[in-house]
Amino acid sequence: MLTDGEAVAVYDCLKDDIRRAYLKSDHPVAREFRSWGRFSSSPYPADAHGSRYLLNYANALAAPEYRKYEDLDEMPLGSILAKEGFVQQHDGSNGVGPLFIMEKKSTGALADSGGWHYAMIMPNGMIRADRGLQKFCNDCHQHADDDDFMMFMPDEYRVSAK
Ligand code: HEC
Repeated sequence: MLTDGEAVAVYDCLKDDIRRAYLKSDHPVAREFRSWGRFSSSPYPADAHGSRYLLNYANALAAPEYRKYEDLDEMPLGSILAKEGFVQQHDGSNGVGPLFIMEKKSTGALADSGGWHYAMIMPNGMIRADRGLQKFCNDCHQHADDDDFMMFMPDEYRVSAK
């Protein structure tokens, strides 16, 4: 496991590669997310998504509500959360991790997930957003239905706004 300082150093090294990898998808979120509000102070370790170090971002519509964390009421339509990062392999080397995306659409078609649509941009630029993925992501996120499916990062890595 990396210290926060080491995680920052690895991220600084990989951050251009990460950006280039996501841009191959031509997905609008890949172009925009780094200009959004960042809500994690440094790359935090997250085992829920594999052995990864992650940074969370919220777009302008989502940020005012997301920064309330467990006190949030409801995320507005059009909210997009994105989570980038790197993965640490078993041999200790680090590589580009997927970009995780949640977008709040109208609840009609996505009743099971409170209107959230899930997508993943793979390090090779491939976009995954099929039904199997919706179910996989939502099976876990639905446990946070009190917080509009938001699960947040560990307390010590939270920043209220940036
Ligand atoms: C096993 C449980 C689990 C699964 C499966 C899961 N997540 Fe998460 N997700 C979390 C947890 C826990 C957090 C907050 C801490 C973290 O980042 O690990 C989170 C945070 C997020 C966030 C930041 C917004 C928030 O909730 O605070 C996004 C975006 C996200 N996940 C997308 C996805 C996508 C896309 C998938 C499917 C490919 C997915 N997640 C699958 C547990 C899960």
